[in-house]
Amino acid sequence: MKLGIDPETLETLQQLKTRYGDTVSMLRPNGRRAYFVNKPADVQRILVKQHSRYVKGPGFERVKMLLGNGLIVSDGDVWRRSRTMIQPAFSRQKVHQLLRVMVTCADRLALRWARLTKQGELINITEETSEFALELILISIFGPDYETTIVADGGNPFAFLSRDSTRDLSVVLKVRKLREMLLDIIDSRRQRGANDEFDFLSMYMQATDKEGAHFTDDELLDELMTLIVAGFETSANTLNWVWYLVAGHPDVEDHLLEEAKRIMPGVDSVSADNATKMVYTQQVLEETLRLYPPVWLFTRRSRENEVIDGYDVPADTDIYLSPYILHRTDHYWPNPDRFDPERFVATAAPKKDRPFFPFSLGPRRCLGEYFSFLEMKIHIALLLPRFRLALTDTREPELELGINLRTARDIVLRPSLRD
Ligand code: HEM
Repeated sequence: MKLGIDPETLETLQQLKTRYGDTVSMLRPNGRRAYFVNKPADVQRILVKQHSRYVKGPGFERVKMLLGNGLIVSDGDVWRRSRTMIQPAFSRQKVHQLLRVMVTCADRLALRWARLTKQGELINITEETSEFALELILISIFGPDYETTIVADGGNPFAFLSRDSTRDLSVVLKVRKLREMLLDIIDSRRQRGANDEFDFLSMYMQATDKEGAHFTDDELLDELMTLIVAGFETSANTLNWVWYLVAGHPDVEDHLLEEAKRIMPGVDSVSADNATKMVYTQQVLEETLRLYPPVWLFTRRSRENEVIDGYDVPADTDIYLSPYILHRTDHYWPNPDRFDPERFVATAAPKKDRPFFPFSLGPRRCLGEYFSFLEMKIHIALLLPRFRLALTDTREPELELGINLRTARDIVLRPSLRD
């Protein structure tokens, strides 16, 4: 059976689970066996306790072209060294220093939406959230160099990353050019001796390993590309779904609005503490990530012989895990296709009874989880009280299941100003 990262694969996996149960052993056309694992305790074991007995599995070939040996695709000692060097840049205290950037990006969007609204135009929310998240991650990484070097020629040379066409030769060339541009930025910072900027690039350039060595230029470029790719599409897709879901659920919209106006009634009240207080917004984001986890399929490959749910799994076997499918299994999530942020109230059933892993679990868990919740909460708090966005099409959007789960077609909404 062919298993790529595509819509047929989702359908195949869903059917297999219905027919054969929680753990499915599959024979591939190339004679290799693969396992689809759905018992939460097994998922937990593979991702957390025994994570070092697995490496990343198939499906990363195309991403490798973009990300080289950066965090998402590397394994073993290379991954461990990079993760240890990079992790401090994602501490809460460091991320808080980027709050102003988040506000600036939300403000820019508000200005554009106000203009579009006055002109009676529709808002392509898929494009808007994509631009918001891309600009935000680029300013967070490159600080002042974003304006002076990256968009200086007009246009954003990273914009093509939001279109999943990495097979295309022109993308290879674009990636090469991007890497050259990034190297120029790095060189010029070294020449200026610049280390007073606060951004991910300066933190990455200063990071050292146990032996005191810095990243080489190639390693640095791989990690920067990784950060851009990991950091923007996932948040962009989540916000895209949030606007779609909120537009179709007026009760949720009212509750979100009330919270935003009470806790973050304007730019001056944006703070990490206030973001933490936005518990309902957190619930809406979690429920959105339950229904539409951007990374809908994880793959791993066993390094040693394993036993999973009673099956003997030899070394070098591919393992598939799907947050999308487990998040919609009614045994754990009754009425699973219904959007209901109340599922995530603090008093709901214990977490261990409800598999939820949109950011993965364990030592390879997403580094940007806190950053992304902050950016998404600020985005909602600063935009929702100003704009009502109504559906122009009530049909449920079709899914596009690439490396990231997106809407197959852009979502277009009709804006109006709130008083
Ligand atoms: C809603 C937003 C996001 C979601 C759902 C998400 C999800 C994930 C998932 C599932 C993984 C693990 C993939 C795997 O093991 O195969 C991951 C890894 C990663 N994410 Fe995120 N992510 C989000 C936002 C971000 C942001 C904003 C950043 C950076 C600012 C980021 C940086 C990373 C990095 C660096 C890794 C690699 C970690 C490692 O392998 O050690 N992510 N993310």
